[in-house]
Amino acid sequence: MIQLKVITASTRPSRKGPAISHWILELLKQYDAVQVEHLDLKEINLPFLDEPHHPRLRKYTKEHTIQWSKTIDSTDAFIFVTPEYNYGFPATLKNALDYLFEEWAYKPVGIISYGGLSAGTRSAQMLKQVITTLRMMPLTESVAIPFFTKHINEDEKFISDEALDKSANTMIAELIKWTNALKTMRNK
Ligand SMILES: Cc1cc2nc3c(=O)[nH]c(=O)nc-3n(C[C@H](O)[C@H](O)[C@H](O)COP(=O)(O)O)c2cc1C
Repeated sequence: MIQLKVITASTRPSRKGPAISHWILELLKQYDAVQVEHLDLKEINLPFLDEPHHPRLRKYTKEHTIQWSKTIDSTDAFIFVTPEYNYGFPATLKNALDYLFEEWAYKPVGIISYGGLSAGTRSAQMLKQVITTLRMMPLTESVAIPFFTKHINEDEKFISDEALDKSANTMIAELIKWTNALKTMRNK
């Protein structure tokens, strides 16, 4: 069984990220091969990186880092749900990534970005540059949601359409392939 985590990157009050995460979490229920968990960075509430040593050494001194390390270590694959803030991905996600090192390695990432006309794609591109340094594998198949507010109803629920569902399912299929292929590297 593939252990998959969906990470919600935005943490501000009135954020829209969780609506999009709940859509993908619902869609993932069709997949028997994956066990899914939601990691909401608002709930996890990591402080700004407060460890004295490089994460490569795994000499963690804080309980929140030890817990975060365990969570990421036990994961095989990720879906990051990220907005675009000033053409980049949110500092909350960068901080969560910077906390650890080996825990992220050889794990594939499907990126769901959302924004205005450009659908958060600049954020996704910037994210790829950072996560490859951690030896993660960002998938070519991603989900980019333009003018995403059109999909959010008065109950704050994300209403997808056929094209978005198709693009999400394509990304998930690819994510499963990569997760299985990278297993040998993760085992080393
Ligand atoms: C600080 C900030 C910067 C933003 N920059 C961009 C941007 O560069 N491109 C874009 O499409 N939308 C931008 N927006 C609008 C966001 O797409 C919109 O507010 C979205 O709801 C943010 O995601 P969240 O609600 O999950 O935080 C920005 C919003 C904020 C708060």
